[in-house]
Amino acid sequence: MRDVTLLAIFKHHIAQKYLNRSGVAHAIAVAYHAFHLAKEKNMDVDIATKAGLLHDIGHFTWYKNGKWDYEMYRKYDIHPIKGAERAHKLLIRLGENPVRAKEIALAILFHTDSFLPTDIKRKPLQQVVKWADEKDEEEGGNHHYRSIKYDRALKSIVRLDEMVDQEISGNVYKERNG
Ligand SMILES: [Fe+2]
Repeated sequence: MRDVTLLAIFKHHIAQKYLNRSGVAHAIAVAYHAFHLAKEKNMDVDIATKAGLLHDIGHFTWYKNGKWDYEMYRKYDIHPIKGAERAHKLLIRLGENPVRAKEIALAILFHTDSFLPTDIKRKPLQQVVKWADEKDEEEGGNHHYRSIKYDRALKSIVRLDEMVDQEISGNVYKERNG
């Protein structure tokens, strides 16, 4: 049994505020990619999906005259740092296991090279979240603008929660029965 579900995270007003800013459809797509990649590599699908869902919640709005200013973004952005901190605070508030909350926050911190030295060595799970993000990226940052209705988003989250639960109980069964 997990301490916190994706649904509990998704419905929280803090998550709603920042997921809407950076794109709910993108966040959900990345969470699904993270699930499949983590499952394929026998990694922790719970941590992978949560990090995938929350990876971009650190975004600030770089607007100038009503338009997103990529020049400013490239120069000043620290969204992985803010995202890691926001996600950590949210997860702890929701009652997440602190060890897992830290893993999720670190996967968010390292999900992009945009502000980091390029020679960083990622843990496998951190690499999975980076790949998941890259799988859903569109040119010119268009992935941040794809929209999805709240009801459909909610259904996708519920389904992903079921997939995660199934995967976890399947692994427990395998461990017990060899
Ligand atoms: Fe992203």
